[in-house]
Amino acid sequence: VPTPAFVSGLPKAELHLHLEGTLEPELKLALARRNGVDIGQTTVEQVKATYEFDSLASFLGVYYPAVNVLVEEEDFYDLATAYFVRAAADGVRRVEAFFDPQAHTSRGVPIEKVIVGYHRAAVDAGALGVSAELILCFLRDFSAESALATLTEALPYADRFIGVGLDSDERDNPPTKFADVFALARANGLKLTMHCDIDQVGSIENIRQVLEDIQVDRIDHGTNIVENPELVALVRERRLGLTCCPVSNSFVTADMKAAEMVALLKFGVLVTVNSDDPAYFGAYVADNYSALAEKAGLDTDELVLLAKNSFEASWLPTNEKQAFL
Ligand code: HPA
Ligand code: ZN
Repeated sequence: VPTPAFVSGLPKAELHLHLEGTLEPELKLALARRNGVDIGQTTVEQVKATYEFDSLASFLGVYYPAVNVLVEEEDFYDLATAYFVRAAADGVRRVEAFFDPQAHTSRGVPIEKVIVGYHRAAVDAGALGVSAELILCFLRDFSAESALATLTEALPYADRFIGVGLDSDERDNPPTKFADVFALARANGLKLTMHCDIDQVGSIENIRQVLEDIQVDRIDHGTNIVENPELVALVRERRLGLTCCPVSNSFVTADMKAAEMVALLKFGVLVTVNSDDPAYFGAYVADNYSALAEKAGLDTDELVLLAKNSFEASWLPTNEKQAFL
């Protein structure tokens, strides 16, 4: 199994990372104090004891209330900066990071504070050798109207994010519910991606919708595509990235889905490895590479391929991408 030093030394792009999912217990407590927010816990041990989940639904039930500690522009800046520092140490040279504006605007935080704070951190990440961009995600359990209102509010800051995504609870919230807002995003020059979570009943229909109806530029998770050879052939043909998250998978389904990822990789699909919500799943991106390598018996060449895939699947301009391939 490749050593931790080899894995963290490998230049890589992280393409499936929720900034709100990087909230470590220590920072959560510090921000709660700074903003006078009562979170119900006062020690790291107590906070960690709440990080207890065995499904996407139970995870989201811990994850969304936690963001109450994020109030000021500086809070968003500090959260993202702490992540970029850790990512740089893991060999990450490119990040395309998700954020959830509706988790903040729905509690009265102006979208400007969210976008400006995160974006300032993304710019400053350049000094760490990390090229960072943002992807604005809509909460799929909110209405299509709310998503449209969010995009409309965000468009004045459209030079500060490169794409839109779709996350939160997939059940009964199919991709086509958001066809209009994604069409508007595309018309504004934004890239498109959507979560196709691994614990979904009816996964294949949702994957079909993101590929055929929405015409996304990437798929987040999407590992269940292995069930349908025609769709697998299609993503391979289109060179569409799948942003897989092994350790996250093992929390929400008790299965890392290593065999599925490796089968797709060997078939020539652009599989990538990512951390999703590292503060909650206890594993940043290098740990995800190592966990997958150990589970599936991958060698160094296969990890190099996964890392190269991450740059190919990234939305870096072609000339910048070339240096990493
Ligand atoms: N799926 C859906 N919603 C999420 C995820 C995810 O992997 N991570 C954070 N919010
Ligand atoms: Zn995710």
